[in-house]
Amino acid sequence: MPKKSIDLSIEFCGKTFKNPFLLSSSPVSNSAEMVARSFDAGWSGVVFKTLNSDRLKITHPSPRMNAFHYGAKRVVGVQNVEQISDRPLMDNLADFLYLKKHYPEHVLISSIMGFSNDEWAYLAKVSEDNGADMLELNFSCPHMCIEGTGHHVGKAFDLIERFTTTVKNTVSIPVIAKMTPNITDMTEPAIYAKQGGADAISAINTVSGISEVGLEDLVPKPNIFGIGAVSGTSGPAIKPIGLHFIADMAQCEDLAIPLSGIGGIETWIDALEYILLGASTIQVTTGIMHYGYRIVEDMIEGLSDFMAQRGVTRISDLVGKALPNLKTTDHFDLGRQGVTQYDLDKCVGCGQCYIVCTDAAGQALEWDAEKRRPSLIEDKCLSCMLCSFVCPVPDLIAFKEMPVTWNRAETQVMDKHLEKEITLEPFTKEGPNECTC
Ligand SMILES: Cc1cc2nc3c(=O)[nH]c(=O)nc-3n(C[C@H](O)[C@H](O)[C@H](O)COP(=O)(O)O)c2cc1C
Repeated sequence: MPKKSIDLSIEFCGKTFKNPFLLSSSPVSNSAEMVARSFDAGWSGVVFKTLNSDRLKITHPSPRMNAFHYGAKRVVGVQNVEQISDRPLMDNLADFLYLKKHYPEHVLISSIMGFSNDEWAYLAKVSEDNGADMLELNFSCPHMCIEGTGHHVGKAFDLIERFTTTVKNTVSIPVIAKMTPNITDMTEPAIYAKQGGADAISAINTVSGISEVGLEDLVPKPNIFGIGAVSGTSGPAIKPIGLHFIADMAQCEDLAIPLSGIGGIETWIDALEYILLGASTIQVTTGIMHYGYRIVEDMIEGLSDFMAQRGVTRISDLVGKALPNLKTTDHFDLGRQGVTQYDLDKCVGCGQCYIVCTDAAGQALEWDAEKRRPSLIEDKCLSCMLCSFVCPVPDLIAFKEMPVTWNRAETQVMDKHLEKEITLEPFTKEGPNECTC
């Protein structure tokens, strides 16, 4: 339960959510029975599994997912080829009515994907007629088996605008456009969606990827009877991509509409990062596929504790709070430099810091093999922080700023055995920077 003084509720597209945590459209939101259990666990809303109009029979490939593990960490990501809902439309709409009857305070968002203008309008209308509080337009599934759908629409910006306009002309409930990350700049399609009348943007859907190849059969996974395909990657592996797109859109003055953050959220910290970069609500799939609905309990508690410690009472006060500190790299103050510092009382003598500093950084550590302790040659330290990444002891290695008068030593040059003089004409031409990257 959130602490009494802490208000986790948030306004999003004119609706009040009791907290910012929603199920995203996927197997975790496939039926009323499941969604009801998630609401009981504490989730404030759902984006229901993307509806199908029954015009096409949906058959999911089998098997439809592959998890990829990295070292000791299981399910770093999931690779899926699941399609939109294979349930009859009537069943899904009956589930909407059930949920609205039994959970009127929870927010029900219907995810739709049409295959024509008329089908977008049809799905929007039946969703509204059967109780959906909002719509999410799925412009973003990267692996539909039917040509011309999903992220193909999300990459054809004029179609985003056209279909959004169609839906907005059909219904009066708010409309969210869900974006594909399989592009370079998300602000552009998001602005097309806004021009079509979208009230908010959600991002990201899964990232197109291949995460594993079977070494026995040489088939990329999931292996659908001997065939693999580029498909949707989700989970912690994609969080940096999701954060980047949300921050870009939050900073885009021409967009200026609410954002729902998705991608690799498993903990309250992941959720808070999305909120700090501009998302007002967040959505989760893979975290639930890994740990179940009850992760929301930790999310509520963790976020409430963080806010209590910081003296923040309303979650809305945290939305976008990190954005003023997010700038392009040319804003860095390169006159300020630092090095690592070691608290050797905590050292366990594993030597990992010495190995990575020697083979991948500044050769700034000497190793006392008898005492099994590193010692730092400060002016060779690059402050890359690699040693701290591999050190198994928390807080043993930290960053320390140096005085502005301090200089880093130049890297050693192997000039002793050269057989000829170096040929080098210095580059002297003055001119403007033409590179715009
Ligand atoms: C198995 C599976 C099925 C999915 N089905 C849908 C879908 O029907 N509609 C949709 O908009 N997104 C779908 N998604 C994408 C998720 O809603 C979400 O955008 C994505 O998985 C990233 O979030 P995550 O890292 O929390 O999983 C699906 C994802 C998975 C893993």
